[in-house]
Amino acid sequence: MAIIRLITGWPGPSGFGSATTAEQVTAGIDASGLTVIITGGASGIGLETSRVLALRGAHVIIAARNMKAANEAKQTIYESNENAKVDVLQLDLSCLKSVKACADSFLALNLPLNILINNAGIMFCPYQLSQDGIEMQFATNHLGHFYLTNLLIEKMKDTASNTGIEGRIINLSSIAHLRTYEEGIRFDAVNDETSYSDKKAYGQSKLASILHANELSRRLKEEGANITVNSVHPGLIMTNLMKYSLNFMRFMKLLTFLFWKNVPQGAATTCYVAVHPDMKGLSGKYFLDCNEWPASDFARDPKMAKKLWDYSNHLLDTVLRQP
Ligand SMILES: NC(=O)c1ccc[n+]([C@@H]2O[C@H](COP(=O)([O-])OP(=O)(O)OC[C@H]3O[C@@H](n4cnc5c(N)ncnc54)[C@H](OP(=O)(O)O)[C@@H]3O)[C@@H](O)[C@H]2O)c1
Repeated sequence: MAIIRLITGWPGPSGFGSATTAEQVTAGIDASGLTVIITGGASGIGLETSRVLALRGAHVIIAARNMKAANEAKQTIYESNENAKVDVLQLDLSCLKSVKACADSFLALNLPLNILINNAGIMFCPYQLSQDGIEMQFATNHLGHFYLTNLLIEKMKDTASNTGIEGRIINLSSIAHLRTYEEGIRFDAVNDETSYSDKKAYGQSKLASILHANELSRRLKEEGANITVNSVHPGLIMTNLMKYSLNFMRFMKLLTFLFWKNVPQGAATTCYVAVHPDMKGLSGKYFLDCNEWPASDFARDPKMAKKLWDYSNHLLDTVLRQP
C-alpha cells in the first residue's frame, strides 16, 4: 500500500502524500513569531525547508559548515522573498568544539528557539575519523546533532514555557536505517575500520537519529516539557548527499525512478512535522511522505534508545575531556 502511495502520490491519512510539496503542506500556516534552527540549511532539502519556513514567516537560522554557501542560500531566499528573516551560523557537526561554538553564538543572540531541525548529513563516505576521533558518519549525522540538541534544549524548554507554544525537534533520518549492522548500533566497534561498510555505517547513523529522537521524546514527556521530538525520512531525492556514490545512485535512480522525489517534495515531510497543526502533541514517531510510519524493530527498541543515550554521553565526556 505504501509503495502504491509513494508511486502515485496518493495522499495518506494526513491528507498529504509523496507528491506533496513543502509549500503545499504549509499553505495557510502562519509561522511568524517562530524561530527555527536548521542544520545543513544551505543546500538540498535543508535549503528548501529554510526557504518555505521563511516564506511562512519564521525566523530561520541556517547553521552550516560552509559560510559562503550559507550566505548564498540566504541571498537565494531573499531574492524570492524580500521579507524573509534569515541568519547564518557556522557549524561543523563533526567537530564538537564547533558545535559548542555554534550553540554559544546562538544563545548569545538571546532569541527564543521554537524549532530545531537536525537536517545536515553525509552519506556513504569512505572510512574516516572525525577530528574528535569518531567514525565520520556517526560523528556528523548522530553525535554532533546529539550534542547540539543537548546544548539548546534548555533554551527550547524556556521558550515553550514562556510562550505556551509547543517546541518541536525534527531529526532527519532515512529509510536506510533499515540497513544497518547486524547488532543495530555497534556500541563496541563504532570505529572499527576492518569491518566498516559505508552503507551500513550510514544506516547505523540514521538508526541513531531515530533512537535519539525517541529517547529524548520519552525524557521530555516524563518532565512534562512542551516539546515534541520526531524523526522523518524525506524520500529519495537527488542532492549533493549522493556525492560519494554518484554513479551508483544514478544507476539506482534509473532502475527505481518511480520512487524518487524532487527537492520541494523532499522538504514536505520535515515542514509538515515542524509546523503543521495536526502534529500537535505527537512525539516519538517516525514520518514518511507526511504520514506516520512504523520504523524498524531496532528503531522502536527503548532499551537500545537508552543505551545509545548513555553511550553518546560517554563519547561526549571522553572527547570533551581531551585538552
Ligand atoms: N536526499 C535523499 O535522498 C535523502 C534520503 C534520506 C535521508 N536524507 C537526509 O536528509 C538530510 C539532508 O540531505 P540532502 O539530501 O539535502 O543532502 P545535501 O544537499 O548534501 O545536504 C546536506 C547538508 O549537510 C551539510 N553537512 C554535511 N556535513 C556537515 C557537517 N560536518 N557540519 C555541518 N553541516 C554538514 C552539508 O554541507 P556541505 O555542503 O558543507 O557538505 C549540506 O548542506 C540528510 O540528513 C540526509 O541523510 C536524504
